[in-house]
Amino acid sequence: MNPIFCVLLFSLVAGLAFAEKSDYCLSEIVKTDERIRAHGYPTETHEVTTGDGYVLTLFRIPYSHKLKNQNEMRPPILLQHGLFSNSDCWLSSGPDNSLAYLLADAGYDVWLGNARGNIYSRNNVRISLNSPKFWHFDWHEIGTIDIPAMIDYILADTGYAQIHYAGHSQGTTAYLVMLSERPEYNALIKSGHMLAPCAFFEHGSSFIFNALGPLVSTPGGIWNQLLVDTELIPHNNLFNRLVDNSCHLSNSICNNAFIMFANGGYVNANASSMSVLIETHPAGSSSNQGIHFLQLWKSLKFRQYDWGTKKNNQLYGQDLPPDYDLSKITAPTHLYSSTNDALCGPEDVNTLVENFPHLKEDYRVPLQSFNHLDFIIARNMKELVNDPIIERINSYEGR
Ligand SMILES: *[C@@H]1O[C@H](CO)[C@@H](O)[C@H](O)[C@H]1NC(C)=O
Repeated sequence: MNPIFCVLLFSLVAGLAFAEKSDYCLSEIVKTDERIRAHGYPTETHEVTTGDGYVLTLFRIPYSHKLKNQNEMRPPILLQHGLFSNSDCWLSSGPDNSLAYLLADAGYDVWLGNARGNIYSRNNVRISLNSPKFWHFDWHEIGTIDIPAMIDYILADTGYAQIHYAGHSQGTTAYLVMLSERPEYNALIKSGHMLAPCAFFEHGSSFIFNALGPLVSTPGGIWNQLLVDTELIPHNNLFNRLVDNSCHLSNSICNNAFIMFANGGYVNANASSMSVLIETHPAGSSSNQGIHFLQLWKSLKFRQYDWGTKKNNQLYGQDLPPDYDLSKITAPTHLYSSTNDALCGPEDVNTLVENFPHLKEDYRVPLQSFNHLDFIIARNMKELVNDPIIERINSYEGR
């Protein structure tokens, strides 16, 4: 077995075994708002409580200190992170390259979401973090409950009738879930920008599919029963120390830690941006999020969680989970995908496009080597992705 893979596997298992959930200490890390402030930008922290009790943290860059535009119109935009990630992913390459700052400097009111279960959203007003009930969710709930709650809050706070949205990876999946399951939200989206869009997984080449897919994608199977409703890869000091030490030992181990789930090389990655990211990643997710993705890989469908025939019948009134109906998505939506994405690659984006009748645009990043994580950490992501996004958002605002 590849030695790098061994180190990573060991740190994952160690991380799962030794994670002290209640012990997690936010005061030990540099949080999103401190990062923003350190670059001179104004920032605010907001909390949104969902109908089922999760307290979600939204960070905000309300305006740009460079533009001094606090008294001007600033259309809001929500940025939503991917699996194992958090709001820091929109900041790690700094003001000259990362999307959150570029949007603030383009005159937008930037809100950074955090899904239930990640390091910034680990409270529920009714359920303890240590209860399996806390972790009984996946990206279906992030899409149908968390994102709508954040959007309602932001629109109420800013007085705007519509919001722009950009998501990476699972942040795209949750958007597609929201607009197909709660189509009334289409009217609230001025434009949607899907970076590395993930809905279909037939062609995923990441080793993770073949390694874990057969184990956990069978509902009722032993692995599934062991893993359901638990925290997956919690952020913890041991994991981070291991990765950090391996970064000092060898750059390639460090880089591999990041591309573990998104393999496909790292020729575009900004190494400093990676070391910023590792401070708060992996950020905590429910195992059900990973299991649900693997179920999609197995079924070739974009559909709800498969609980097995009995519970499916109780929940959905049918043996198999229902598909998400992408024809209900009418908000103007742009896809930004890349050839070298080992999780959500070009053939699977083709399937998404075929099933998405009202899709506005299917933009493909014009660089062969660009991969899944490059949307967050590539040295060249400004020219290839972020500038094109801002250009499109500006066009909706008549700018
Ligand atoms: C790389 O990341 C560092 C750390 O955030 C940042 O200062 C730098 O501007 C980034 N460079 C590029 C080209 O992305």
